[in-house]
Amino acid sequence: MTVDHDKLMEFLGKIVNDMGAIASAPMVVIGDKLGLYREMAKTGPLTPSELAVKTGTAERYVREWLNNQAAGGYATYDEKTGKYYLSEEQAFCLADENSPGSVLGAFQIAMSLFKDEPKIREAFRSGGGVQWGDHDPDLFEGTERFFRSGYLANLTSSWIPSLEGVEEKLKNGAKVADVGCGHGASTIIMAKAYPKSHFVGFDYHEPSIIEARNRAKKEGLSDRVKFEVAKATDFPGNNYDLVAIFDALHDMSDPVGTVSHISKILKPDGTLMLVEPFAKDEVKDNMTPVGRLFYGASTMVCVPCSLASNGPALGAQAGPKRLEQVVKAGGLKNFRISTSTPFNIVIEAKL
Ligand SMILES: C[S@@+](CC[C@H](N)C(=O)[O-])C[C@H]1O[C@@H](n2cnc3c(N)ncnc32)[C@H](O)[C@@H]1O
Repeated sequence: MTVDHDKLMEFLGKIVNDMGAIASAPMVVIGDKLGLYREMAKTGPLTPSELAVKTGTAERYVREWLNNQAAGGYATYDEKTGKYYLSEEQAFCLADENSPGSVLGAFQIAMSLFKDEPKIREAFRSGGGVQWGDHDPDLFEGTERFFRSGYLANLTSSWIPSLEGVEEKLKNGAKVADVGCGHGASTIIMAKAYPKSHFVGFDYHEPSIIEARNRAKKEGLSDRVKFEVAKATDFPGNNYDLVAIFDALHDMSDPVGTVSHISKILKPDGTLMLVEPFAKDEVKDNMTPVGRLFYGASTMVCVPCSLASNGPALGAQAGPKRLEQVVKAGGLKNFRISTSTPFNIVIEAKL
């Protein structure tokens, strides 16, 4: 076997880049939790000691952190003044968790993946699963924070308008279920946008439902947003105008049973909105940076979640064809991709 020197250098270059990203993941979490990014965005260019004083942190650590951030392009270093600052784009993604561009939750998810590695390694051996609720809590909080950015950017401006007649129903007052709602980010965004409608979020993970209730209360929405612990295959209620499942169907133990239940409790002209991770049908077409990210998360979270209850483990890269089979097997005969983003596909399914 002969090693091609140029190919080796190219591969090692890629590895060094990835190793830099891995070492920087906890740096991002620290910058977020200690308010370093927020202070930089608020104040503008700062020396390490100025940033340390303003955030109540130690200058030596802050200086090292700033150099890591600047070397990775997560902050900008001005060698003339010795100050560091965030560009508008860096601040858009790093300094405000309510920005539609916030990526902070993704790094929190990454922390959970590292902490859960022993459990997943064991599942590789046994073939068993790991329930959603048995992951590190950073997964639950990180998921809500990361996914919320995408929902803020797209849900009411593009995804709901892409469904036939749904926006009008929501504006006039509709009955909506959000299944596998986690901390309720999507439920709360919809409830704020459509005050005449009523929303119920369901999830089988009780701590997530408790957190979702707290969030609805804080937002003053408790009168028209409820959160209940329930499984996707038998959550209560009927005559729903819209049932939505955000990034959760592929995690479930019984996706066909879930759609089948929904087909029975939707109004005859009701809609199932499925938001799933963006994927193409063929593995070869998912060999992309986004595919890489999703296959990683899928191995660590989605596949074990479904396998934990003997599910089919659709995985986060199931692709539209497989999802269409599931939806049609569940009794919803009309299936259409209504829109997509680089991270998600949105599916409209009806009776
Ligand atoms: C990736 S998270 C998405 C959470 C939320 N929809 C969001 O977008 O932030 C998947 C969620 O599905 C829930 N889940 C998985 N299987 C479920 C089932 N069979 N019934 C109800 N909830 C389920 C998990 O507890 C978790 O909260």
